[in-house]
Amino acid sequence: MATSARETTPATAATAATAAAAPMVEIRKLWTVFTSPERRFVVHEDLDLDVRQGEVLSLVGGSGTGKTVLLRQVLGLETPTRGDIEVLGQSVSELGRRGAASRIGMLFQHGALFSAFTVLENIAFPLRELKTLTPTLIREAAMVKLQMVGLKPEDAARMPSDLSGGMIKRVALARALIMDPPLLLLDEPTAGLDPDSSDGFVTLLRSLHRDLHLTVIMVTHDLDTLFELSTRIAVLADRHVVIAAPPKEVIAHPHPFIHDFFLGPRGQRAMELLREYPFAI
Ligand SMILES: Nc1ncnc2c1ncn2[C@@H]1O[C@H](COP(=O)(O)OP(=O)(O)OP(=O)(O)O)[C@@H](O)[C@H]1O
Ligand SMILES: [Mg+2]
Repeated sequence: MATSARETTPATAATAATAAAAPMVEIRKLWTVFTSPERRFVVHEDLDLDVRQGEVLSLVGGSGTGKTVLLRQVLGLETPTRGDIEVLGQSVSELGRRGAASRIGMLFQHGALFSAFTVLENIAFPLRELKTLTPTLIREAAMVKLQMVGLKPEDAARMPSDLSGGMIKRVALARALIMDPPLLLLDEPTAGLDPDSSDGFVTLLRSLHRDLHLTVIMVTHDLDTLFELSTRIAVLADRHVVIAAPPKEVIAHPHPFIHDFFLGPRGQRAMELLREYPFAI
């Protein structure tokens, strides 16, 4: 069916382009089981998920459903009990630390900075670990990232204890981006920020996603962050992904967690946001 240019809005064009894009992450038949002498605890069971290049895929689910564990597995920090995770067609288990670091940046949920290091040393840390660049080049690369996240050159020498929560997040983001990875993992990026800092951080994430052509997997409980950034939402419940779809489709799903999450007391806000963000409609 032919569609005239007039009928193709930027949002629908972007959605179509994303749908056609190659996979960035493919998760197949993933199991995560923690065992202790007292119990066997299944976190993920036969979990499948695809993330396409250029997407911002948000992962939502109740506390303890295994969102952070899943991100850590994509990064290669934890190994699933069974199943496979591929990033750009290569199994994470084969990527190794260097391979993963050059492809994937992560902003950790409780990602503290190194308190004894300056802002610039924190941002440069992954590059210093690599031991392949000169100190001058490392410093220059870190300064570029510092300014990319909206900090000023004079912030470079400050210590983490002197920074606001929003600035700490920005430094951690600059550190996650220091190797120019195509894939960025964000675990609760706006948790703990005041509304203004949160808005500023979401705006920064949106422009970095666009300018750096990033693919993003983001865990968030915050509805504003979720609706402002997501191209799709994946819901983790009953130990697997119940649905991964654009926001409007997800909200219409009858699963009780989804109903409570979007249509409970917070539902009014969810509906306002659906109307506000054309991408979600
Ligand atoms: N190394 C481990 N050994 C045993 N259990 C673990 C381990 N790591 C995580 N878990 C358990 O796995 C479950 C999933 O943890 P995870 O941190 O991924 O939850 P989450 O979905 O990120 O929750 P939240 O929204 O509270 O951050 C939790 O019950 C946690 O206690
Ligand atoms: Mg978590």
